[in-house]
Amino acid sequence: MCGIVGYIGKENCVNFLVEGLKRLEYRGYDSSGICVLNEKKLSCYKKTGKIVNMESTLPSEVIGKSGIGHTRWATHGEVTDANAHPHLSANGKFAIVHNGIIENYQVLREKLIADGFEFKSTSDSEVIAMLLEKNFSGNFEKAFYQTLSLLEGTYGIVAVFADEPDYLMVGRKGSPLVLGIGDGCTFVASDVSAFLGHTKQAVYLEDNEICKIYADSFITTDFTLEKKQKEIATIEWDAIELDKKDYQHFMLKEIFEQPESVARAYAGRILADIGTAKLGGLNMEPRELAAVDNIGIIACGTSYHAGLVGSYLLEELARLQTVVHIASEIRYKNPILRRNSLQFAVSQSGETIDTLLAMREFQRKGGKVLGVCNVVGSSIARESDGGVYVHSGPEVAVASTKAFTSQLTVFLLFSILMGRMRDMSQYRGVQLIEDLQQIPQKMESILKKSEQIAEIAKKYAGLNNFLFLGRGISYPVVMEAALKLKEVSYVHSEGYAAGEIKHGPIALVDKNTPVVFVVPQDHLHDKMVSNIQEVKARGGRLIAVCNEGDEKIRSLVEDVIEVPKTEPLFSPLLTILPLQLMSYYVAKELGCDIDQPRNLAKSVTVE
Ligand code: M6R
Repeated sequence: MCGIVGYIGKENCVNFLVEGLKRLEYRGYDSSGICVLNEKKLSCYKKTGKIVNMESTLPSEVIGKSGIGHTRWATHGEVTDANAHPHLSANGKFAIVHNGIIENYQVLREKLIADGFEFKSTSDSEVIAMLLEKNFSGNFEKAFYQTLSLLEGTYGIVAVFADEPDYLMVGRKGSPLVLGIGDGCTFVASDVSAFLGHTKQAVYLEDNEICKIYADSFITTDFTLEKKQKEIATIEWDAIELDKKDYQHFMLKEIFEQPESVARAYAGRILADIGTAKLGGLNMEPRELAAVDNIGIIACGTSYHAGLVGSYLLEELARLQTVVHIASEIRYKNPILRRNSLQFAVSQSGETIDTLLAMREFQRKGGKVLGVCNVVGSSIARESDGGVYVHSGPEVAVASTKAFTSQLTVFLLFSILMGRMRDMSQYRGVQLIEDLQQIPQKMESILKKSEQIAEIAKKYAGLNNFLFLGRGISYPVVMEAALKLKEVSYVHSEGYAAGEIKHGPIALVDKNTPVVFVVPQDHLHDKMVSNIQEVKARGGRLIAVCNEGDEKIRSLVEDVIEVPKTEPLFSPLLTILPLQLMSYYVAKELGCDIDQPRNLAKSVTVE
């Protein structure tokens, strides 16, 4: 949440700051601002609303060889120009941008007020700028260290001082920051997408690190001033992947990328002739893997739903008991770490704070946690004990789509790997791998139905409550479908286990309730038919996602979206696609801000 950019170099940085913020807008978009330093004078521009609002307030001649910028997702203080970042100190000499929450800001603020400092905002972050001024006694760097030592909570901070134009100060504790090493300039940002068009050389800062950045060098220390050696990594993503191409929205583009992204998730990881998978990043010897007899999965939102699908796969294919935890719940529950257990932390961004903190709690208890992340070099990827990148490519839309199917693919590979180490025959493994390799092509055939799905979405878009029902491995699929619809269209929707509707939710059904059934031809098909009939008898509007040629289902429902047949355990990779598209088209019909839905941010880095 909140996006930070900073620059120091030879060029005027205004364009970079604005463009960089636009790249980070998915992190928060209620207000934004930049502050540039020119001839020892700081100039600050801030505005509520999207970055274009702030951009339109910039005078034509703004110049700065260094500067900082911020896009905000409000936590403390309402959405106002004054609460937008950057925040200036009282004397206007120090400016900061901050991502995170300063938990002791009230105490600090009261002391500063008693010392005569006047605050302009109600944001927790403004205390940082004031503290820099208060702690300054001739040395900016020292004032920065002293200020950070007073802060409780989480932060990624970049600070600039008008009288020291040669360097910026950067500090990280709990909120991601990465440096970009340019040609005669240095960038800093919440994630690499901000500067990917300028450099692919990146330095990831760790928690409790402070960095002094110059145009052509940087010095990193910990809080005790001990110097740290940092590696320069090369980013694999291309800036081009951050463009919408010919699509109207990133969400649509990312839905359509799934045949490729799923293929990328298994590329180089299958041993087709012996029917198994190889996952080098696990950092585990076969003997160690063989000793695992239960699995835990920690995640939030869509990644949690992917974890739930993963639990069906692991239990069915590898006969490994699997418990899936909502990260924000388990981290306060004193989790029980069973012997011979292996945990997965699943996160597209790799920065979700609840998942990261839950992961640390398991590690503290001696557990081994593997990351399933998309963003390379993210906090979870770096702090986990090994893991598997899902390789979806950058996901920009706030609504996660392609990361979900890539996460499922990784769980499939891991389940086959573990299954083959346990009871699964080579024959079964070979078959499963063959089925997996057919998935991208089957996805293509579903995406060709987007016009039909758009028509169905149009028909139901005016209705206020949707129910999504599924059984078995389709249950997490309907949970994910309901999440997708509510987040992009603001239409109330529930994803329920179809067998549970008689225990309450069927009371919701009336002639204005679209009920979407996910009903692949698996061992639960007949049970689903009964559920469909129950809802039909109560007058609901019935839609089904079923397999091609399923005349039984077709005869029962008002609208049908057919998907190709596949191995039943792989059906989530196909059945979710029409439902992602349906959410997209409902939101489009309702005129919603699809890529940046209200109140949301892509990367939830505050609790
Ligand atoms: O980056 P993560 O996968 O850890 O994010 C977890 C959730 O915040 C995320 O999946 C969220 O639910 C999405 N907006 C869903 O589309």
